[in-house]
Amino acid sequence: MSTETATLQNLQSRRVTTQTLQEMRVQNIPIAMLTAYDFTFARILDQAGVDVLLVGDSASNVMAGHETTLPITLDQMIYHAQCVVRGVERVLVVVDLPFGSYQGNTKVALQSAIRVMKESGGHAIKLEGGAPVASMIRRIINAGIPVMGHLGLTPQSIYQFGTYKARARDNEEADRLRDDALLLQDAGCFAIVLEKIPAGLAAEVTESLRIPTIGIGAGARCSGQVLVMHDMLGLSTDFNPRFVRRYAELGGVVTDAVRAYVDDVRGRQFPDASESY
Ligand code: KIV
Repeated sequence: MSTETATLQNLQSRRVTTQTLQEMRVQNIPIAMLTAYDFTFARILDQAGVDVLLVGDSASNVMAGHETTLPITLDQMIYHAQCVVRGVERVLVVVDLPFGSYQGNTKVALQSAIRVMKESGGHAIKLEGGAPVASMIRRIINAGIPVMGHLGLTPQSIYQFGTYKARARDNEEADRLRDDALLLQDAGCFAIVLEKIPAGLAAEVTESLRIPTIGIGAGARCSGQVLVMHDMLGLSTDFNPRFVRRYAELGGVVTDAVRAYVDDVRGRQFPDASESY
């Protein structure tokens, strides 16, 4: 067995912590992160070997059917996080602070983070932004709560961006992102999500940091990758950005199964004698 395989097996046999992610970054072992919002899928993803589950505010889109991530509330995020935490044994569970629950001031941010940790049992929180939220991040970390940062296309700012196109393509925004990444690291973040930015910039930022970066639409040279579970499983078929790779077409599988069930019920083929008492 190679040393790399042995190290990976050793890491996979333990509960994942923020230190594990740091070890993986040092050993150059890519981190696999996915979103999850409920008990059943969280259990499957945990047992399938994912390292981090993000209870993303993308729940606003894929669970609640909103157009943006803005409407979801802190209470709703806590509910989803509770469901995920009950399903896992090994993964690190990171919970998004939703829009409006941390931007106001450091006290509000800390109260929101404390509610997530106390009421959901999640292991860390994630919030979006750089310099404008650095003081909120410091205050939360000072209370002993691990924070994951999120830079680039930060969906809570969609009305400011006006578009879901890739960010930091011009020098000014790329420089700001470089500075923000260092600021978040200095503030004590244990990792940073880089969303929809040029692959070269993401690679450069990853090289410049000691902490791991997790890319989504940010190329292959981040320390890890994250996808929204519904996208990679083919459950949300109307969302097709090029950074999504579909590993299954569950939407089609579910449709076929439900059609077969409806046909069986209509044709009195279900239930049969073996399924009756
Ligand atoms: O909410 C979410 O799903 C996220 C990922 C896209 C990183 O923040």
